[in-house]
Amino acid sequence: MNKIIKIPVGLGERSYDIIAGQGILGNAAEYLSPFVKGRKCLLLTDSNVGPIYAKKVHQMLTAAGSEAFIFSFPAGEEHKTLKTVGSICSYAVKHGLDRSSLIVALGGGVCGDIAGFAAAIYMRGINFIQIPTTLLAAVDSSVGGKTGADLPEGKNLIGAFWQPKLVLMDPEVLTTLPFKEIRCGLAEVVKYGVIMDAPLFAKLEQNIDKLNAVDLQFYAEIIARCCELKAKVVAADEREGGLRAILNYGHTFGHAVELVSNFTLAHGEGVAIGMNMAAELAVQAGLLDLAVAVRQRKLLEKIVLPCTLPPGADPEKIYAGMLKDKKKVGGNLNLIVPLEIGKVEIKSGFEPAAIINAIRCCCE
Ligand code: NAD
Ligand code: GLY
Repeated sequence: MNKIIKIPVGLGERSYDIIAGQGILGNAAEYLSPFVKGRKCLLLTDSNVGPIYAKKVHQMLTAAGSEAFIFSFPAGEEHKTLKTVGSICSYAVKHGLDRSSLIVALGGGVCGDIAGFAAAIYMRGINFIQIPTTLLAAVDSSVGGKTGADLPEGKNLIGAFWQPKLVLMDPEVLTTLPFKEIRCGLAEVVKYGVIMDAPLFAKLEQNIDKLNAVDLQFYAEIIARCCELKAKVVAADEREGGLRAILNYGHTFGHAVELVSNFTLAHGEGVAIGMNMAAELAVQAGLLDLAVAVRQRKLLEKIVLPCTLPPGADPEKIYAGMLKDKKKVGGNLNLIVPLEIGKVEIKSGFEPAAIINAIRCCCE
C-alpha cells in the first residue's frame, strides 16, 4: 500500500481524523478497530457501490471486531429522502443496533448525507464513519458534519450537524467512478483553489493531463490538500456562522442553474457555471481583474466543465431560482465573489440587475 496520510479535523471533543491512502479500503482494520470492536455496524451503501466494494469493507469491519450488516438503497439523489432514512433506522432496530452501535457510510455524497442524518437521529444519536467513494464526497461532503436529506420542496431542507468519528479515503475507488462524476468533483477542487489556495490552483493548471487521465497518485495529493483546507475551514467555523460560507463559492448561482435546467446539468456542472457567474459579477463590480476570471474559465474548460448556460436559458429565471436559496438571510443574497485566485469575499447588497447581467454574460 502507498503512503498513508492522516489529516486531523480539530473540533474539540468532536475531533476526528481523515485517513487517506491508496489501497486503504482493504487494509483499514487497525484504524476501524478502536471505534467498532465489539460493536454492531450498519454498513450503508447504494445499489452501484455495494456490488463493487461492500464485501471488501464488510470483511474489514469483521477483521476489526465488529458484527456488520449491509443495507443497500437504490442509487440516486431521488432516494435521499426521509423514507430511506426511516428504512435505515428500521433495519437498524431489526438487527439489534443499540446506542453503542455505528453506521458506516460507503458511497458518494448521497449515501454519506443520509447515513450521517440517520446516525444523528437513531436513538438520539449514534456514531458514524464515512468511507467516500466519489471525488465530491472525498473532497467535500464526507468532511465537516453536514448531514441531511431532501424534501419534495427542495434539496437538503432537513438535516443536522453530526460529525463522523473517522473518514477513510482510498483514491483507488476513482477507478470505477464514471468520468462525468470525476469532472463534477473537480469543480469542487477548483473551488478550493479559487477560495483559498493559489498554489493548488496553479498545480491544477500545470497538470491537466494527469487530471484528465485520472492519475491516482496525483488525485491522492489533491484530495489530501482539499481535505486539509476543508478541515481548516470547518475547525474555524463548524456551524457556518461566517467563514464556512466561502465553501459555497459558485453554489448559489449553481443551484439555480441546476434547478432551471431541470437537473439535466449535474451539481458540479452547475457549480462550474456558477463560479464563472460569480467571477463575472466581481469583474463588473470592479473587484476582480478580467484576466483572473479568464484564468478560472480556462482551467474549467480544460477539464471539460461547462462555463456557460445552454442556449435558451433565461437569466431572470436563474435569478428567481437564486432567491430560493436557503442561505439567503432576511431577503438578502450573500454571494461569494473572488478578489484574486486564492482569495474571496462574502458580499451582500448586489443589485438584482447586476446579478442578472452577470448571468446574461455567461449565456451562450
Ligand atoms: P452520489 O452519491 O449520487 O454518487 C454519484 C453516482 O456515482 C451514484 O450513482 C453512485 O452510485 C455512483 N458511485 C459512487 N461511487 C462510485 C464508485 N466508486 N464507482 C462507481 N460508481 C460510484 O453523488 P455525489 O456527487 O457523490 O454527492 C452528491 C450529494 O452530496 C448531493 O446530495 C449533495 O447535496 C451532497 N453534498 C453534501 C455536502 C455536505 O457537506 N454534506 C457537500 C456537497 C454535496
Ligand atoms: N459543502 C459545504 C460545506 O460543507 O459547508
